[in-house]
Amino acid sequence: MLKLNKIFQITCFVILVSCSLTKSEYMSPEGEVHKLIFTQYGHDFSDFQNEIQTLTSTITAKNKKDWEFKVKEQLSRTRIAYKKIEFIFDYLEPNYAYLYINGGPLPKLHKEVSEVDIIPPNGLQRLDELIFSEELSTSYQEVSDKTKELLQAIRFIKDSHLSDTLSQQNVFESLRSGVVRIFTLGLTGFDTPGSGNGILESLVSMRAMHNAFSMYRSTLTNKQKDRFEEILEVFNQGIQYLEQNRDFDTFDRMTFLKRVVNPLYKNLYSFQKLLHVDERSLNRHAQDYNSTQLFAENFLDLGYYSQFAFNDIKNEASIELGKVLFYDPILSHNLDMSCSTCHNPNLGFSDGLIKSATNLHNVTTKRNSPTLLDVGYSSKYFWDMREHDLEKQVAHVVEDSLEFNIGFKEIEKRLKQSSEYVKLFDEAYGRISSNTINRRSISNAIAAYVNTLNSFDSPFDKYVRGEASDLNTSAIAGFNLFMGKAACGTCHFAPVFNGSVPPFYTDAESEVLGVPQKYTSLRPILDKDQGRSGNGRRGDAHPHYDNSFKTVTVRNAELTAPYMHNGGFETLEEVLDFYNIGGGLGMGLDVDHQTLAGDSLLLNEVEVGQLISFLHALTDTTGLQPGKIDLPKFEGQPYWNKRGEPIIID
Ligand code: HEC
Ligand code: HEC
Repeated sequence: MLKLNKIFQITCFVILVSCSLTKSEYMSPEGEVHKLIFTQYGHDFSDFQNEIQTLTSTITAKNKKDWEFKVKEQLSRTRIAYKKIEFIFDYLEPNYAYLYINGGPLPKLHKEVSEVDIIPPNGLQRLDELIFSEELSTSYQEVSDKTKELLQAIRFIKDSHLSDTLSQQNVFESLRSGVVRIFTLGLTGFDTPGSGNGILESLVSMRAMHNAFSMYRSTLTNKQKDRFEEILEVFNQGIQYLEQNRDFDTFDRMTFLKRVVNPLYKNLYSFQKLLHVDERSLNRHAQDYNSTQLFAENFLDLGYYSQFAFNDIKNEASIELGKVLFYDPILSHNLDMSCSTCHNPNLGFSDGLIKSATNLHNVTTKRNSPTLLDVGYSSKYFWDMREHDLEKQVAHVVEDSLEFNIGFKEIEKRLKQSSEYVKLFDEAYGRISSNTINRRSISNAIAAYVNTLNSFDSPFDKYVRGEASDLNTSAIAGFNLFMGKAACGTCHFAPVFNGSVPPFYTDAESEVLGVPQKYTSLRPILDKDQGRSGNGRRGDAHPHYDNSFKTVTVRNAELTAPYMHNGGFETLEEVLDFYNIGGGLGMGLDVDHQTLAGDSLLLNEVEVGQLISFLHALTDTTGLQPGKIDLPKFEGQPYWNKRGEPIIID
């Protein structure tokens, strides 16, 4: 028996050895690097947990000398420990990280628990805000509770998380999204509302990514090595730049973007291809990892936001059809209104009015008509975020008694009377359905067209991508202010400069600015529009969302005056005055839950001018003018063919 056992053991040993031998014959050596990276990550993860543990005990020792100082110091240490693992942790667990570990200090919708729809701000970012506030001792209880919750959250996820694996592809994508995170959240100060440690923390993240990437060194062929050394050199330059430029207000984000962020984002991708590492992305992030540029139309995957679309949103035939529908008043009851009435291509797809004219005399829409440029890069639509689907958005217009004031059935009945329309619909949807003209195809086609209204060829974009050698110095200074001292980039996130949250861009934020009814320094009155909390969605009916509005893009703002959800600001100068004074609170209005800091930005006149130059440098409607559109003819309805002029058909 004993003997048999022995033989069995030896056989096992031999099998194991030969297995691993054959395995290593077939596996390229770099195939193992991701495992080394994950092992190192596991150690760093434990360090982070220990730092939180120490933070809890530091906080409890309230009677000790220099308590406040020690708590601050320990929080900084804890945050730094997190910054070492963040690029991987956040990549693998984006929702968990956002909800419990280091999300913005805003209440968030809880997707997993239906009864508790809002969870309060949590994690490191909230702690940064609390611990670095002036009244640390008064917020003792919350600080203590939040730290314990953080410890629990990390303990809860640790085992399942560390038993997960990290693929080669994950390594590259996490490095690349890590670079984006540094640029969009670290260097803007988004992450560190209290301590202002953004640059130091970015340095820590950069070093951690550099170290992970360095692990490839020993496994490469000569050809790969050259590329590897080049990339390592860019990492080193980034580290050096962050070491040498520690002042938040004067940090040159443009230089950092061009010298470090862009080359890393691009070259890590080509290195990944050089190693033949799979490029297929999981559909969990909106970032399209096949893009080589941060400031480019394809950096975000529009298909992510419209993934439940009736037909592929990039289908040419649908787009062509949608374009005709967008400009055709046949969709409105009175044949006098099309989408373009309020979203005019000559005005950046807005309409120049405070609020839009409707089909009733002297009655306007409730809100200002926003631009549709780059609107597809978001998971939520309308100022109050009441719609989460670009296709379904169309129904709001069709059925609104002040807008198209019609139903889909009536539109279908009309469109079927035009052989031209029937042909266009058959071409786009013939494969899907025999009855091609229906609610879904109409909505899908219009959404497909709206999704093409993207503008990433502005002078700013071209300069950043290196396609233009110059951009005026005022606009460059404005960009640096936007992403730094003026804090605009902490809400209008790069690259779309809207509320889609980096580095994965899956969620879209709304904010409370305290916008007055009209911009005036004489007795301003807070706008009464309830905003997001009144949008009819159960999960949004929360006081934190009172007067909260979608963070829209500032791209093409030059073309889209007047501004804000109520059109209450005539010029960009007024908008900037408002921000400079600290929004509604700064104006002395009584605003609950304002999420914009209520103190002055202390921008002088020159800086305000620079910010406006930057906004102007974001203007681009290249290729988006529709040209001449021949509206389809209706054979049996001659008077419909005169549409475009207001014709009442009742
Ligand atoms: C009568 C004017 C009017 C017409 C016609 C109109 N819109 Fe709008 N549109 C608006 C206004 C006003 C808003 C903002 C409403 C709100 O947020 O409550 C808006 C918002 C939108 C949004 C959301 C933008 C964002 O940033 O979230 C989209 C998308 C949109 N419209 C597309 C269309 C399409 C497509 C059509 C044609 C089917 C259309 N609109 C017709 C006035 C109009
Ligand atoms: C706290 C988040 C936040 C910050 C910080 C912020 N914005 Fe905004 N911004 C918003 C929101 C939300 C809106 C829409 C508000 C509304 O309509 O009520 C907006 C609207 C705008 C608009 C008007 C867009 C339009 O089409 O009507 C401009 C322009 C603008 N912001 C520029 C800036 C600039 C420049 C800065 C920096 C000085 C800045 N924002 C800082 C959240 C923010």
